[in-house]
Amino acid sequence: MVWSGVLDKYGSYLPLASAARIITLNEGNTPLVESNRLAEFVAPGAGLKLYFKYEGLNPTGSFKDRGMTAAITQAVFEGANTVICASTGNTAASAAAYAARSGLRCLVLVPEGKIALGKLAASLAYGAEVISIDGSFDDGLKMVREIVKRKPIALVNSVNPWRIEGQKTGAFEICDQLGGVAPDWHCLPVGNAGNITAYWMGYQQYEQGLPRLLGAQASGAAPIVSGKVVTSPETVATAIRIGNPARWREAVQALDDSGGTITAVTDEEILNAWRLLAKMEGLFVEPASASGLAALMKLVNDGEVDPTGKRIVIVLTGHGLKDPGIAVREAAEPLKLPADINALEAYLE
Ligand code: F0G
Repeated sequence: MVWSGVLDKYGSYLPLASAARIITLNEGNTPLVESNRLAEFVAPGAGLKLYFKYEGLNPTGSFKDRGMTAAITQAVFEGANTVICASTGNTAASAAAYAARSGLRCLVLVPEGKIALGKLAASLAYGAEVISIDGSFDDGLKMVREIVKRKPIALVNSVNPWRIEGQKTGAFEICDQLGGVAPDWHCLPVGNAGNITAYWMGYQQYEQGLPRLLGAQASGAAPIVSGKVVTSPETVATAIRIGNPARWREAVQALDDSGGTITAVTDEEILNAWRLLAKMEGLFVEPASASGLAALMKLVNDGEVDPTGKRIVIVLTGHGLKDPGIAVREAAEPLKLPADINALEAYLE
């Protein structure tokens, strides 16, 4: 079968109007990669079946494309000319791409100095009007929620229900890829809490079993874990540097209903998981995307998650090339040698 995007494949599960013209970049259909080495490292001898849903392989390099195809399709259907979002970077790049494809004007508000280079570069390349604000994502979200009341502009943050509708297809794909069954645990990073809301909706709707949800927040940006708004969130995982998630209530509901849990992981734990994914599995992700693994490792260690014989899926939400700054900062300097075969041979000895 030719793959032509999540709305083509799963459109019958979404309330899209049949007259809507689908705007797609053939997003979705991302690989569910079975762990070769980390499963045994995380839980030696437990017979853990660990899988990574590699969402960084979407057209703009993150899971946001699943929701954006639906949000932009609906915006075009409703006759919008302009779309807007606040973003830590990935939503911005995704909105910019789908807007470009449909000829819409696109404005994105990003927190000054806190957006990874690959996300900024992509948003600019796709022709979005990038507005850098001297505030946080939360400040930006407040601004865009207000401006759409004053101007005829479509909001494409995950407060837009179409974003959730599109993103829930991730759950459908995981069940399909596991052969018609949901995993026992589903681990993912939580920022604005749209994705956890969407996955839970998807698993419920698909009726192939329900996983327990394991949410991960960065310890410097963990409002749901602490139960308190964080006014100055800070973390190396800039994608989830969010102090007041828009879908906080839905996330708590999903966690409760699933019998799951949410935990905070330190930047050090995130970067450790980030290194392990790249070096033990060949999966290069952005730091936020490693927080699901960091959370799982922490809870297995604490005895809060029993991995014995379990099937566990970790969503890797964004590609490593999104944040080359971190990769360069964390890696060793490349070795320098003269362009000379003898120098190479001497090095190998
Ligand atoms: N992982 C990555 C790579 C993200 O970019 C985000 C959110 C999340 C996880 C968390 O997902 O917000 O649905 O809980 N990024 C948003 C953005 C906020 O603006 O790109 P969430």
